[in-house]
Amino acid sequence: MSEYPGRVEWPIEAKIGRGLEGAVAGETAIGYVDGQNGRLIYRGYSVEDLCEHSTFEEVSYLLLYGDLPTAAQLDAFKRELVRERKIPGEVIDILRKLPRSTHPMSALQVGVAALGGFDRETDIVCGPLKSPADALPSETRIAVRLIAKVATVAAVVARIRAGRRIVDPDPTLDHTANFIKMVTGEKPEPFTARVLDVSLILHADHGMNASTFSAMVVHSSLADLYGTVAAAIASLKGPLHGGANERVLNDLLAIDGPQDARRYVEACLSQRGGRVPGFGHRVYKAYDPRARVFHNYARELCRRSGKKQLLATAEAVEQEALKRLEGRNIFPNVDFYSGLVYHAMGIETSMFTVLFALARVSGWVARVLEYLPNNRIFRPRAVYTGAQSLSWKPLSER
Ligand code: ACO
Repeated sequence: MSEYPGRVEWPIEAKIGRGLEGAVAGETAIGYVDGQNGRLIYRGYSVEDLCEHSTFEEVSYLLLYGDLPTAAQLDAFKRELVRERKIPGEVIDILRKLPRSTHPMSALQVGVAALGGFDRETDIVCGPLKSPADALPSETRIAVRLIAKVATVAAVVARIRAGRRIVDPDPTLDHTANFIKMVTGEKPEPFTARVLDVSLILHADHGMNASTFSAMVVHSSLADLYGTVAAAIASLKGPLHGGANERVLNDLLAIDGPQDARRYVEACLSQRGGRVPGFGHRVYKAYDPRARVFHNYARELCRRSGKKQLLATAEAVEQEALKRLEGRNIFPNVDFYSGLVYHAMGIETSMFTVLFALARVSGWVARVLEYLPNNRIFRPRAVYTGAQSLSWKPLSER
């Protein structure tokens, strides 16, 4: 029986929540967000273990190929990433032509989409294929290329924003240390490189979130991987998704100190659509494990960089918000402390979501390639609630 009497007979029994809540888009062996227990797993390994023992390169390999690499596999993978770091000068020219006011995420999106035009292999993938599975080897090469090149585009975007000369990739450095050097021009301290590397591990994959689903939808039409990742970047930019840490940091900087935390939380709940930025999550109904890791690093970095007051403010906001939202299963998410960590590292606020993107690219490409061999285009439906039998009227009668 239709839920919309008098309008349309909905042909299937459908009970889908707003924002597709509860909908299952497919099967995956890549990662699992256990929202009830606050656990995050990549290919069977807890994210905490990976943060403690792994590197971003190793985790990217794990997501993409399914297993932790052997020493030889890791070495080959890292060498391939190093080989793929350079981006065409024409892409840098395109990025230079964007208005200075362009948000770095929009610039990243443009840069990644433009890269596709310089990769001859995308033609093969988009050409007349025998089956999507045949595209897997070349799509995998492009995926690795993207993991490497997104970092370079991100660094170029940062340098252009700062009005500074572009720094070439350094083949002697690992992925994250090289990225920092391309942004700052300096080889980073090992601790700084390690914190950012852990941050990339924490952001590498996270279930069927909005940007991952965007990537899945785009690639399911057998669109190329560059367009796929560009679309995912656009989705990630929004303040309800990856853009939240920017908002959190700006707010924290505007708060007068820990004593102002209660007023701030009350103002958020009464004025801002009732939301405390950096809190809440569709899946986590327990503390987000990534927020714990970031909180620990925030403590250490704020101590080192003399930003203890800012940390105290963040912790006071957390306590106030937890008190006000008690019993509603709303906790800090990854974005609550990540901005503080990046800020204490001296990273410009508008670059925060870019850091997220250069981590999540591994999850995006791993998931779309997992789906590829049995690809079927995503094509949900909507319940039509409009009119059915209107008569067309000429302009003079409307
Ligand atoms: N502060 C206060 N209340 C909240 C918050 C919050 N941050 N988030 C959710 N709630 C409440 C809602 O008001 C709603 O209450 P109600 O049922 O009484 O109406 C209930 O929790 C459910 O909220 P929804 O909006 O339905 O949750 P949804 O799953 O659609 O949204 C989201 C999740 C977008 C993350 C939301 O929690 C939010 O807007 N948070 C703030 C922005 C943010 O931190 N985004 C980053 C998310 S993490 C990431 O993408 C990397």
